[in-house]
Amino acid sequence: MQKTLTIRGADLYQGYLDPEAQQALVDALREIIRAAPFFRPETRWGKPMSVRMTAAGRYGWFSDRKGYRYEPRHPSGVVWPAIPAMVLDLWRDVTGLAREPDCCLINYYGADAKMGMHQDKDEADFSMPVVSISLGDDALFRLGNVARSGATESIWLTSGDVVVLGGDARLIHHGIDRVRPGSSQLLPKGGRINLTLRVVD
Ligand code: SIN
Ligand code: MN
Repeated sequence: MQKTLTIRGADLYQGYLDPEAQQALVDALREIIRAAPFFRPETRWGKPMSVRMTAAGRYGWFSDRKGYRYEPRHPSGVVWPAIPAMVLDLWRDVTGLAREPDCCLINYYGADAKMGMHQDKDEADFSMPVVSISLGDDALFRLGNVARSGATESIWLTSGDVVVLGGDARLIHHGIDRVRPGSSQLLPKGGRINLTLRVVD
């Protein structure tokens, strides 16, 4: 599919996944979450994050008082489950890369969860893009600049939307201001799931 919008250098593919594909992805995620349940990481200042997390792939992103890093195992000690084939297909389609992502971070946002403005910079090679997939409730996504300050713009992401942060937009600050509880019926208990695909090393 062709991108539908570019905002601050980020490419959006709105409605990339149709409702049937969204349901198939939720079914695949259910298997992953059974093997590697959601946990709530702490920030490096010891504050619990409002999102719950798990991952698939060679690495999962992890955070505690020691800082932010990638880990080869879930906190329980199991290796992370494999990234679903349909997610790898989506990555190939929107990036055109033969290199596969090492990490599919899975973030769950309940009604009150948000994600402060940050850069994705725990990876080795910033020439590799970051791809994010939204499922479930709508979320207000804020995009800024490579510098911490300056103007920002916000856009509502809805279930099935894909965002690619690549090129000059790879290191822009971004975050989730809030979700709109009850805006989607996709997840049985409500809420939002965001998948973030990244090449790590
Ligand atoms: C993130 O950048 O960590 C998450 C973005 C999102 O939830 O859409
Ligand atoms: Mn991010």
